[in-house]
Amino acid sequence: MLKNREIILGVSGGIAAYKSVELLREMTKKGANVHVVMTQNAQQFVTPLTFQTLSGNPVLCDMFRLLEDSKIGHVTLADIADLMVIAPATANILGKIANGIADDFLTTMVMATKVPVLFAPSMNVNMWHSSFVQNNVERLKAHGYQFVDPIEGDLACGSVGKGKLADIEEIVEKIEDIFTKKDLSGQHVLITAGPTLEPIDPVRYITNRSTGKMGFALAKMARRRGAEVTLITGPHYLSLPRRDIPQIVVNDARQMHEAVKHYFEDCHIVIMAAAVADFRPQDCLTEKITKRKNGTYLLEMDRNPDILKELGEKRRNHILVGFAAETSELMENAGVKLKEKNLDLIVANDVTQAGAGFGVDTNIVKILDAQGKVRKVPILSKDEVADIILDQVVKLVKKKEKDLPWPRNW
Ligand code: PMT
Repeated sequence: MLKNREIILGVSGGIAAYKSVELLREMTKKGANVHVVMTQNAQQFVTPLTFQTLSGNPVLCDMFRLLEDSKIGHVTLADIADLMVIAPATANILGKIANGIADDFLTTMVMATKVPVLFAPSMNVNMWHSSFVQNNVERLKAHGYQFVDPIEGDLACGSVGKGKLADIEEIVEKIEDIFTKKDLSGQHVLITAGPTLEPIDPVRYITNRSTGKMGFALAKMARRRGAEVTLITGPHYLSLPRRDIPQIVVNDARQMHEAVKHYFEDCHIVIMAAAVADFRPQDCLTEKITKRKNGTYLLEMDRNPDILKELGEKRRNHILVGFAAETSELMENAGVKLKEKNLDLIVANDVTQAGAGFGVDTNIVKILDAQGKVRKVPILSKDEVADIILDQVVKLVKKKEKDLPWPRNW
């Protein structure tokens, strides 16, 4: 998304200015060409030399200086940029721009540019909640400016509350979101992720190796493409992919079943990446099982509901996507699951392959559709694999929209 993009990073004068250095590095790592513009006050916190060294571009601080040393010659940055990000955005810079004041290079550039502008504010909690700042933020939003709101935390001034610069990961995610085509807008996507934990007694359970990474990647990419996303996940140790994805955490397969049933009617697309346990111990004992001398212990198991199979029976115009984690006969097994569960697509991963399946950040998959067509996806990050799966989903959405009678009633 950021490859070869020209991005202007505006840095205003707050203590979080040092975090803009990390933001710059993340954007350049992803292939963007970043031009830094600093206010006078920002230079009190970080020197222009730091940004210049890391961006490889001259840092602009001076109001009337033309860009002599840059490859773009006298063409102004505001014209060639794809995006402006102002991080940190202080109460002062928000106030100036919201009220049409352009008295330095950064504010002038914001006024002059026609490209999307993203603000990542950071300030003292009382300043953030003050009616002046909130009115300015509302005013800027009404004019189409975009925001990554600050988060709660310990602030540099010693107070605690909302005012901390959003995590760099979240700012980068918002930037990628701005560049993404919203081809899933209007669609409600239900995604399951992670393992289930089937209790044996108060201290033990049966589970599997799923971490939730594949499902979380799908949730993030679907949201980025404009879908309304609901994420139902088993227990996990991951950070939330985005603040605007509601997350329902369940423990066992029966809880996942209830949660999925609750959301199924109102969604258009279901993608089940969760590794749901097929069996659960017959009884969850209320007391811890004690060790028996030289004895074995026989655990009796009951079948869990097959959630996806049930959805396949109930579906109307839903699009259903399943996963198949296999250790042998990958496509044969995946094909049987696709038919038995009445799915549109099944994503088969051979979990014995290095770089595929549980726990890793990559996956290697084959996507099988109901017509028997297979798309092979080589080793890629789970985000990239998620995007390719969603490309197939978008094709199905378009086909369904064409086939549905008017008025289109999902
Ligand atoms: O979470 P990660 O660490 O990133 O790992 C990713 C993954 C390996 C878990 C993921 O890529 C994956 O393959 N998920 C499905 C694993 C699985 O359990 O497959 P299955 O063959 O048992 O189930 C087939 C399909 O039916 C799945 O979509 C599953 O969610 C669903 N199912 C299974 C059992 C059950 N009782 N109810 C179900 O709905």
